[in-house]
Amino acid sequence: KLLTSGDPYEAPEAPESFRWFKHWYPVHVAEYLDPTRPHPLKLFGCNLVLWKDGDGKWQCFEDACPHRLAPLSEGRVEEDGQLLCAYHGWKFGSAGECKAIPQSEKPVSEWTAKQQEACAVASYPTKEAVGLIWVWPETGAEARKEAEATSMRGFSALFDEEGVARGDIVRTAWSLRDLPYGWDYFIENVTDPAHVPVSHHNVVGNRYKDPRFFKLLPVREMSAQEGMEYSSDRQLVPSADPVTSSSTDFQPPCLVRIRSDYQSQTQTNLCLFAVPTTPGRCRYIGCQVLVKNKEGELPKGLAFFSMPMPKFLFHILAPLFLHQDQVFLHHQERIVNHRSQVAGVRGEKLYTTPTPADTMVLMFRRWFAKHAGGTVPWVPGTDTTLQTNADPVELYDTYNAHTKHCRICQGALKGVELWQKITSVAAVVAAVGAVTAYAAMCASKSAVAAAAAAALRKGSAAALAAVPTLYAPSPGVYALLALALLFLAANVMLGKLKPLFFKYEFSHADNH
Ligand code: FES
Ligand SMILES: [Fe+2]
Repeated sequence: KLLTSGDPYEAPEAPESFRWFKHWYPVHVAEYLDPTRPHPLKLFGCNLVLWKDGDGKWQCFEDACPHRLAPLSEGRVEEDGQLLCAYHGWKFGSAGECKAIPQSEKPVSEWTAKQQEACAVASYPTKEAVGLIWVWPETGAEARKEAEATSMRGFSALFDEEGVARGDIVRTAWSLRDLPYGWDYFIENVTDPAHVPVSHHNVVGNRYKDPRFFKLLPVREMSAQEGMEYSSDRQLVPSADPVTSSSTDFQPPCLVRIRSDYQSQTQTNLCLFAVPTTPGRCRYIGCQVLVKNKEGELPKGLAFFSMPMPKFLFHILAPLFLHQDQVFLHHQERIVNHRSQVAGVRGEKLYTTPTPADTMVLMFRRWFAKHAGGTVPWVPGTDTTLQTNADPVELYDTYNAHTKHCRICQGALKGVELWQKITSVAAVVAAVGAVTAYAAMCASKSAVAAAAAAALRKGSAAALAAVPTLYAPSPGVYALLALALLFLAANVMLGKLKPLFFKYEFSHADNH
């Protein structure tokens, strides 16, 4: 050994690498999936399929049938709890084992073929917790053991089911979106507190009044496996309940927890997961976890979070917030990518960051470059070209980002369409009813009217007094008219709601 430790020519130790494949990835929200059919899924650019087996457990397989590689996500979940490839009818059990090859000559030859490893489909460890489906991105017996022994990223309040049941903790409905920007740009965005009052002007804070100088101080220094946590040295957006401390905690690979503690001894946790699906895209899954104080109160001004609200409303309103960042991030990623290729430097080297507001963004980028390879480890063969959407339609597309992945919203959309029809028919029926009733009423009074006219000709003062009220609509006519207007208003409201399932456009130039 020529080089001894301390030798000035000794090669520097390679930095510790983040173990991307030794973690659970939250890939979907269980209750948003239709359990009677298989669902395609992307992770690290790999095509996977999620399906629920006969024991009620979600399973995750490679999305290619071993026979001739047709996608299993185009198959069927059969009544016997097996996944059927709908091309030639091969069937698979919960662990990916082949259960049927219907073209076999004899039962014994089918049995022999089914035992072959090549006839099984690769299956990934999968589990359900806090309403999410989690997948471990390695297959095999060893991976199963490691997966069993590894806990999911999170924090105690997130996993506190008893606290939720007692009502001490409020966990809002999960939000799920496929976003048109990459995993690292998502993390960069949510570890950047400075953008909040500016980009989310009128939703959280004010772009003119709230931006200020602040410093981010490390709570947990950067490490290869555990990421980092920073807290800001002052409150960045005023709130009814003053914030006593707030921090942003990046737990790789997917979680950013933004925690705020309030003077009222309450706490909010914005729990944000980003899943690397394909280059230039990611899946966001998030919720708020609110912790009440001893008096059972939520932070002042946030009580509406615990109000019962249909989940679909949460879902269709989420883009009001998300699209405010999305309009930047999709293009920022592509600009940085292009320029860094031209200049031959890492993207963050092109940033200009004269204030400490960007500290955590830069630390995340340093962690990514130093410990995590500087790129998501896409499966070999993944096309890493970033598609640019010159046409902003995709940026505003909420159908492909969410609705098509969520059976709650699909059900709500069907309900909205049905009620649109019902209210339009009901409005017409009520209006026609009002007119008919009024006409009938007038006809029934024609004899009285004729008598009044005759009396009038004779100069009877009493008949004169009766004339103005003679044709006044009856209360029944008014009631029908009111109903018609009510149905019309409901129809107009539903007409405004429906497009939100498909598209939500946003422009900062119009957000005054
Ligand atoms: S490709 Fe699946 S059964 Fe043939
Ligand atoms: Fe939804």
